[in-house]
Amino acid sequence: MVTDRFDAAMIRALPRLRAISNLAVGVDNIDLAAATRAGVAVGHTPGILTETTADLAFGLLMAAARRIAEGDRYVRGARWRTWGPKVLLGRDIHGATLGIIGWGAIGQAMARRAAGFGMRVLYLPGRQATRSARSRRTRTSAGAGLSHAEPTTLQRLLAESDFVSLHVPLTPATRHMIGAAELAKMKRSAILINTARGAIVDSQALAGALRAGRIGGAGLDVTDPEPIDANDPLLELPNVVITPHIGSASHATRLQMAELAVDNLIDVFEGRRPRNCANPAVRMR
Ligand code: GLV
Repeated sequence: MVTDRFDAAMIRALPRLRAISNLAVGVDNIDLAAATRAGVAVGHTPGILTETTADLAFGLLMAAARRIAEGDRYVRGARWRTWGPKVLLGRDIHGATLGIIGWGAIGQAMARRAAGFGMRVLYLPGRQATRSARSRRTRTSAGAGLSHAEPTTLQRLLAESDFVSLHVPLTPATRHMIGAAELAKMKRSAILINTARGAIVDSQALAGALRAGRIGGAGLDVTDPEPIDANDPLLELPNVVITPHIGSASHATRLQMAELAVDNLIDVFEGRRPRNCANPAVRMR
């Protein structure tokens, strides 16, 4: 599970370990280099959770933009007295610009959803998130059905987007890639969506930016730490929607993930690398 940490010490402490099968696409809970050195194959579950996770990311975008969770609290809190022209005004989604950081499968699935809402899409390719804008422009192109999406620099994406959605894996290069400096470059009305990993965002900086009105809101399915601390300042902010790391949590997808995680292990028992191997360079024990 994403909650199980397999660091180098843990892997060293398990000399008979042959495989780790992660019930997730992200493998930041596992020291891949240590596993590879120890001849431990790491399986994970890419692909099958792409659309389900993008559904949730877009759902958070809509919830934050149109204040859906706030509206629900308003009704349940018996504050709905009458219809009012200024009650719970939010942001339009149609016609807005969505900035996607991480142009992998989930980022692209998010862009396809945005097309249906008439949004303009800017994107920053995930693997090249820390490389120069010039190399990004020359090396990437939008895939099929994604002609509305335009590659750009982080700088421009932050400055022009009404919504910024994160879809990069958590690595040393992406840890806190959204901090005070990046939040300061965003529009004051912008909404940050994170369905990737909590630590990609500096959460103290995020809480500060939201409190000071430097950005407009956030939709978070992941936090740092998880579960979020009960006293975390983010929980006090009405313009933040938080769900408990449920990006891939549909009945059908979780079942497929479980089956794939088992298949990855069966492959190892039968002497093969897992069919979805996160460290394909491994020389298995
Ligand atoms: C869940 O967070 C996953 O990486 O699949």
